[in-house]
Amino acid sequence: MHRPPAPPTVFGDLNPAPRLLLGPGPINADPRVLRAMAMPLLGQFDPEFIAYMDETMALLRQLYQTSNRWSFLVDGTARAGIEALLVSLIEPGDRVLVPIFGRFGHLLAEIAGRCGAEVTTLETEWGRVFEPDAIEAEVKRLRPKLLAVVHGDTSTTMAQPLNEIGAICRRYDCLLYADATATLGGMDLPVDAWQIDAASAGLQKCLSGPPGSAPITFNARVEDLVRCRKHVEAGLRPAGFVPPAGPRIHSNYFDLAMLMDYWGPSHLNHHTEAASMLYAARECARIVLRDGLAETFARHALASKALVAGLEAMGLKVFGDQRHKMPNVTGVHIPDGVPGDRVRTALLDDFGIEIGTSFGPLHGRIWRIGTMGYNCRKQNVLVVLGALEAVLRQAGHPLPAGAAVEAAYAVYGAA
Ligand SMILES: Cc1ncc(COP(=O)(O)O)c(C=O)c1O
Repeated sequence: MHRPPAPPTVFGDLNPAPRLLLGPGPINADPRVLRAMAMPLLGQFDPEFIAYMDETMALLRQLYQTSNRWSFLVDGTARAGIEALLVSLIEPGDRVLVPIFGRFGHLLAEIAGRCGAEVTTLETEWGRVFEPDAIEAEVKRLRPKLLAVVHGDTSTTMAQPLNEIGAICRRYDCLLYADATATLGGMDLPVDAWQIDAASAGLQKCLSGPPGSAPITFNARVEDLVRCRKHVEAGLRPAGFVPPAGPRIHSNYFDLAMLMDYWGPSHLNHHTEAASMLYAARECARIVLRDGLAETFARHALASKALVAGLEAMGLKVFGDQRHKMPNVTGVHIPDGVPGDRVRTALLDDFGIEIGTSFGPLHGRIWRIGTMGYNCRKQNVLVVLGALEAVLRQAGHPLPAGAAVEAAYAVYGAA
């Protein structure tokens, strides 16, 4: 029997609840970034848009403190930047060393493995990082083509010092890639001074933007390797193009040789640029640079100090080796007998505040509180401390009333 078509299902208006996103990312985007995203779309061959692309590259160089020509955006979340660099650098059978101190080190190892690398991992307990000597010994033994390491691993809230690692890699003719997803704009990362060959990030942490764009940078050592694998799609190939001897990069979307042609003066067609995300990334970079890199790092460090002081005043224990704590995310042990997930739910329901727990061995053992980018402000530190105290007291956990906020006030007052 013929039935009339069902009426279209259109659902209600989008009306997300106002939330304060104080987890390990994403964060609340800076309203200036959201405004930039609402600007009229342009096509990627429009001279005006090309100028915005060039400006974005110039801004990213400053964020990464590099003179690398190739500092541009990969469309996609932070792992798109990771994949673009790894798939373009790694040829099947290459030796890759990944020091792992949290969940995102495992991610690097897994992506390198998918690229066909012979992956060797070094592991340390979550909450710690590596001494440079331990990394050097393994690089010396293994002689990898690439060392891939996370700068700040949000899963453990630890930051691996990278200032000596680049020099170690150069000594053994190894490339250094750093995943700076969670640190770019929040911690110092002078890519040239630290001899980091390639790095990638995301917008949704210290850069105050939404997820969906991955700023990357890489130097001439990386460029030379990638150029040996340059492939040009049929239909775009200039007459007489002879492909180089290197094996073709396995991904089309993440082929850095093609992306260089796209972002370079020839502007050879590749993907349709995610124009609104480029506007966002451009604005994110402008905000950090206008505030000043040093000032922005100091703001993150101060918020971290105030938050830790407040948590400790509540009688809570901060997680991990504090000498290597990331300034933009703080891990805190869930006290015995406290239902960690119920506390998070109460924070969300009663205060509209999101905080995180962690993964793997730390799931349900710690909470993670992010104070990054646009959300890295005294106001938010005080609000989350007050709210956490209230929720813990509601849950029957005894706490000295008011001590947390006072301790944070004292840190800000003394600054
Ligand atoms: C250190 C690190 N690397 C990679 C990622 C993956 O980023 P995305 O989810 O944007 O792909 C994250 C996300 O939290 C991260 O913290």
